[in-house]
Amino acid sequence: MRRDDDLAIEVQRMREWGLARFTGMSVAVTGGISGIGRATAIRLFAEGARVWIIDRNPPAATDPAFDAMSYIGLDVTDAESVHSTITHIATESGAVDVVVNAAGIAHSARVQDTRANDWSRLIDVNLTGTFNVTAAAMRAMKGRGGAIVNIASDAGLVGQLAQAAYCASKGGVVQLTRAAALDGAPDAIRVNCVCPCFVETPLVDAWIAEQPDPSAARAAVQSDQPIGRMGRPQEVAAAVAYLASAEANFVTGVALAVDGGTTAR
Ligand code: NAI
Repeated sequence: MRRDDDLAIEVQRMREWGLARFTGMSVAVTGGISGIGRATAIRLFAEGARVWIIDRNPPAATDPAFDAMSYIGLDVTDAESVHSTITHIATESGAVDVVVNAAGIAHSARVQDTRANDWSRLIDVNLTGTFNVTAAAMRAMKGRGGAIVNIASDAGLVGQLAQAAYCASKGGVVQLTRAAALDGAPDAIRVNCVCPCFVETPLVDAWIAEQPDPSAARAAVQSDQPIGRMGRPQEVAAAVAYLASAEANFVTGVALAVDGGTTAR
């Protein structure tokens, strides 16, 4: 499949399935330029949403998937800019109905080898960034309700070797999700997270490329999943779409594993 066909194919697929759960809704996706965020933005757009992409990187000129969406350049660690951006989206669209936190970074090191600046960077982007956007979204959704879906990780549910800062940041996202679900419930704001394991994205490609034997590392990752392969960004996007939709109106505070059975062991 050509990358520039993604959006048209997803629109067609949703039409055939009769899925239009976000028609008329305003959706913001952080990290929406790449990987899981991009697939989620495409899915929600294909189901009828007006989509705002928030990312520190701009869309590639060669990626027409973004022609139909609005892009705002922003680093999610900048709390003031996050607040003004979410307020801007609410004003322009009349509401912010759904927010997906997919912006994130990875870093591999054992606890004893993790440098202070790598620790701070992981916590800043993955946890504080998710907090900044969630808090701003909850303020914008007050009085009207809404849904927030955070992309956590299986690393937020179980410990992993040489993933000290990443595990801590994603464990924080899982707990932030639960706390925010309780704080949001009186205002009809649902907050959930998904916990994927290895998903084929540029982030995982970069991690595999860093390994001493990249093709052995890829094969090891695949054979380590009970389902025998990595996940696809679209498979995570489908779970996000469910949690964000009215079909999940009684679901809040959950950490949904989308991991091919990895954490079932
Ligand atoms: P990716 O690297 O393909 O995409 C991440 C996006 O986030 C990029 O567009 C990047 O520019 C943006 N971003 C990073 N830092 C940012 C910041 N400070 N402000 C604004 N935007 C920023 O990564 P991928 O794989 O799609 O990951 C998305 C999320 O899913 C991350 O939170 C990651 O930790 C999580 N995840 C990924 C898994 C995987 O195997 N790919 C597994 C489990 C969780």
